[in-house]
Amino acid sequence: MAYLTMHDDGPVRIVRMAREDRLNALNLALVDELVAALEAADADVNVRAIVLTGGEKAFAAGADIGEMADATAVDMKLRDQFRAWDRIRGVHKPVIAAVKGFALGGGCELALACDLVIAGESAKFGQPEVKLGLMPGAGGTQWLARRLGKARALELLWLGDPITAREALSLGLINRVVPDEACVAHAVELGKRLAEMPPVALRCIKEAVYQAMDTAFADGLEAERNLFYLLFATEDAREGMRAFLERRKPEFQGR
Ligand code: HXC
Repeated sequence: MAYLTMHDDGPVRIVRMAREDRLNALNLALVDELVAALEAADADVNVRAIVLTGGEKAFAAGADIGEMADATAVDMKLRDQFRAWDRIRGVHKPVIAAVKGFALGGGCELALACDLVIAGESAKFGQPEVKLGLMPGAGGTQWLARRLGKARALELLWLGDPITAREALSLGLINRVVPDEACVAHAVELGKRLAEMPPVALRCIKEAVYQAMDTAFADGLEAERNLFYLLFATEDAREGMRAFLERRKPEFQGR
């Protein structure tokens, strides 16, 4: 892993992008490493939640412009880089972004692709691709249109100006703003709380929420209902309900 560092804090895997001399510009190799790391964490039974973070100055300053500057449309089509991004969306376990500094372009899209976002006070979110004569390619138009509505989304995407952590919070784009020095620790604490929850229920809830963003309301309700029924097949649901009735703390096994 040339561009990432990883360590575990109990059940939480902390993945840090560490290409600091380029403000974590997301070259193809970094994204490949990131996908491999997230999928490995997803498959590891000892990991219950993932925290994705970057450096002090930048979470990630976007796609590596050097890798795209001379590329033709055909080069980009054949490069097919967004296949890797689809795999990020396919991670089942909770992924929490801990964002300090710049989260721009692909870096903002990466943060928005995480399930929850904890921002340090220094965080700046933006989609400046327009200033390069481009537009977002890793879901930015879709995430922002769905989460902010047309007017706010177009303003951010057309002008390309970054917004502060507090603005992102007030727009409902992120979950919490904390002092920079507490950012990763806060995300890890949240990960530890999620680690105490029944994993199959977390997974089904994630699936249902993403369905809600993707599908018509009636189809989303149908999917939610089916996932709800499915959870009655888990031992954790049995344990959770019994523990409530017996006034004790439940012990979830992930089955
Ligand atoms: C390649 C980058 C980079 C990037 C920064 N660097 N961002 N290299 N691609 N996206 C490099 C700089 O060239 C510089 O290298 C070093 O990192 C430090 O950056 P500076 O610009 O010197 O820092 P600063 O003046 O503090 O400005 C910070 C910044 C600026 C405002 C974040 O770096 C910036 O505007 N970066 C580009 C942001 C952007 O447009 N992102 C969207 C990319 S397109 P040297 O060698 O000079 O030290 C995109 C499309 C998404 O994301 C498609 C899906 C993936």
